[in-house]
Amino acid sequence: MGMPKKENWGSRLGVILAVMGGAVGLGNFLRFPGLVATCGGGAFMIPYLVAVLVLAVPISWAEWAAGRYGGSKGFNSVPGIFYTLTKRPYGAWLGLLHTIIPIIIFIYYTLIEAFCLVYACSYLMDSMHLGTPQAYLDSFNRFVGMDENGAVFAEGLFSPLFAALLVCYAVNFFLIYRGISRGIERFCLFAMPLLIVCGLVLMVRVITLGNPMGIEGQSYRDSLNFMWNPTHSGQTFLESLSNPETWLLAAGQVFFSYSIGFGLIITYASYMKKDTDVASSSLTAIAGNGFCEIIIGGMMVVPVAVMFLGHDALNKETLGSTFALGFQALPSVFDKMWFGQGIGFLFFFLLFLAAVTSSISELQPPIAFIQEGLGVGRNRSCLFLFLITFTGTCLVMYYSKNLQALDTFDFWAGNFFIFIMATVQILIFGWVFGIERGMAEIRRGAKMQVPNFIAFVIKYVSPLYLIVIFGAWLSINLPKRIAMIRSESVVQLSCYFMFGLAVFFSLILVYALKRWRKTRRLVHLDDVEDVAGK
Ligand code: ALA
Repeated sequence: MGMPKKENWGSRLGVILAVMGGAVGLGNFLRFPGLVATCGGGAFMIPYLVAVLVLAVPISWAEWAAGRYGGSKGFNSVPGIFYTLTKRPYGAWLGLLHTIIPIIIFIYYTLIEAFCLVYACSYLMDSMHLGTPQAYLDSFNRFVGMDENGAVFAEGLFSPLFAALLVCYAVNFFLIYRGISRGIERFCLFAMPLLIVCGLVLMVRVITLGNPMGIEGQSYRDSLNFMWNPTHSGQTFLESLSNPETWLLAAGQVFFSYSIGFGLIITYASYMKKDTDVASSSLTAIAGNGFCEIIIGGMMVVPVAVMFLGHDALNKETLGSTFALGFQALPSVFDKMWFGQGIGFLFFFLLFLAAVTSSISELQPPIAFIQEGLGVGRNRSCLFLFLITFTGTCLVMYYSKNLQALDTFDFWAGNFFIFIMATVQILIFGWVFGIERGMAEIRRGAKMQVPNFIAFVIKYVSPLYLIVIFGAWLSINLPKRIAMIRSESVVQLSCYFMFGLAVFFSLILVYALKRWRKTRRLVHLDDVEDVAGK
């Protein structure tokens, strides 16, 4: 079987925008504003910013450095990279989850991407005039088949959702097939600036609304007070920070949004040149994602909710699901705005672009593993991955009642396993690879000073914080989820699917390990500079 050619990023800006594109997604513009709105605004922002500093910054540095190190040893797949870090086969087994998590996330993420595309097209055709939030809710429920399994397929290939899904698949697989520099990098170099311009236009529109309903306490200023003042509802500062669930939700949001524990940063960084600066690239990507999340997502979507819906509507009952704000509340608001159809189009187009830059990043870790593990080229690995993911997305689409299959995949892959993998990865980096070597890797080629205390944070603070948060999160969520596996057949089926995927990828890893040993990829790792293609 032919070996794939070694790929590289064309420029440092390219890799930064690609990582940023992977991070900036639906999490920034749907999940984050929904959490800020329902978790008390300012009371959410402090745990969120703590999680960015204690988890996102150090873990992301570790991911970038580990990826570039593995890449310099000729590996682009996370199992291969973890093998180089641990020098033991168990490392490769630990890395395996990093190839499965993004596939599962991709499976349901592309479906939401298709939702956004259909909404963007509907606004473009000026056909979104439903009026009340209830009308938008009913329309969304019908559109996604919330009330009955299989409803979306009733219209066959001509259902707008299925057609949009095919377009999303075509775009994603076209870009991923073109490869790192010609596909992902070129697309992100164009899509990220466009996305930021769309976001800024929307933000300016929202800022200039003033107090559109003329109701006291619902002006733009009031919405900023809601978002940034933890004591806005009359609680003391400490009282507002005393809800443990807010801390858990904030940490989960930081993982999902900054794509920590996805395997994405490690994989992308492995295509960098050996001395490219990872320290400042990582910070730039984090700052870029933070800007899109806090400034564009937070200060555009949250104010719209405060100004038009009022504080009373900002609760879990009204805005409880990830979709409630974006697909039900905001469309009813756009109806009331001057040029609302244009604003609606821009908003859903922004969501669509952000979703595509993220979903392609979810394909790269498994593609790299299939190529490297089986020794096949990009075309075969794309076909292979297409068959798996498309089957999965059709399953999620078919079992649409209450979006139960989507919710199951999101819980296990988008929350549970990313927590586990972030913990595994920071422990491997700080304790197995070794913090001295780790810091040297982070500092190699760096144009900025990486302070010494970061070693302490990576080795002790982040793992401890993660373990405590994860333990608390599990104690709240796990019993409920296990009960669901026992009682709900769709949840069981979704878990079988994930289990089947894990077995399948384990078999690939068994084969890959044999193959890598034979081609001497795993012998004398320290001496081998670049073994790709051997
Ligand atoms: N990081 C991606 C997002 O926020 C997955 O949507």
